[in-house]
Amino acid sequence: MEIKTYLTDQRQVVENALHSFALAAEGPFSRHIEAMRYSLFVGGKRIRPILCLAAGAAIRDNEETRNNLLPVACALECIHTYSLIHDDLPAMDDDALRRGKPTNHMLFGEAGAILAGDSLLTWAFDLLTDPAYGSLSVGQRLAITHIIARASGPLGMVGGQSLDIACENREFPFETLQTIHRCKTGSLITCAVQAGAIGAGATETQTGALIHYGNLIGLAFQIVDDLLNATSNTAELGKAAGSDLAHGKATYPAYFGIEGTREKALEAIEGAKAALTGFDAKAEPLRALADYIYTRTC
Ligand code: IPE
Ligand code: IPE
Ligand code: MG
Ligand code: MG
Repeated sequence: MEIKTYLTDQRQVVENALHSFALAAEGPFSRHIEAMRYSLFVGGKRIRPILCLAAGAAIRDNEETRNNLLPVACALECIHTYSLIHDDLPAMDDDALRRGKPTNHMLFGEAGAILAGDSLLTWAFDLLTDPAYGSLSVGQRLAITHIIARASGPLGMVGGQSLDIACENREFPFETLQTIHRCKTGSLITCAVQAGAIGAGATETQTGALIHYGNLIGLAFQIVDDLLNATSNTAELGKAAGSDLAHGKATYPAYFGIEGTREKALEAIEGAKAALTGFDAKAEPLRALADYIYTRTC
């Protein structure tokens, strides 16, 4: 399948949905909502929402499934965007460029950026639990909300971020590096896939295979992020290249070198595709997305 066309089409679907759900920057909180909207609409590959929709389509490729998953997909993108805003703060990675534009705090100040992140996170759960959207059962909605909360919090993304910061400029075992990557980046990616499976009514076996796929592409995604940080340039990435080394970050290239890191990423991608053996042609986008995660250049 042609991944480029697929990604362009799916990004448009996500973009339209985000616009339809997003709060308008008006009323007494207009400046605050403007800060949320700035980072949400400034760009981004929309990989997590696309993975959620693709996982759903691998099980049931129809309009009802898609409509049920769109609010979930958008909620995931809101949580991801919040994580980027906070990740870029001076107290965290202290970055001035994101998605090819000034970071949120550069435009809205630190307090404004912290609050924009807070609201994107909270509003994601508003979106997930609003019965006005979609026709998921209460059980499905609860299960999806729970896995997203779990993946985003202390045992997932935020936990991983705390370990990432704690390990700056320090020696630590490889297992810690793997935990950082699995948690700070992998957990939200896995739960995007898992949420798609739940929303599409997947069997336990199907969900298990998709979680396995998600774990491996999630790990690969951050390994490739490390590679690009070490080998690409700021213009191509839309964010500061070379910053991991400058900040003494825990990365795969620091452990395995560039070639060794490429091998680790490829290994994970091959494993992810192998996890989809039991799936039919409806999982073709998931297979292509796995390859894309390895070959992406930004
Ligand atoms: C960047 O994620 C941060 C990581 C978790 C590695 P993306 O590469 O998905 O960033 P956007 O959304 O496309 O900007
Ligand atoms: C970002 O990790 C992870 C999250 C935002 C949760 P990095 O700090 O390595 O990613 P970039 O390079 O800033 O996108
Ligand atoms: Mg970081
Ligand atoms: Mg960062």
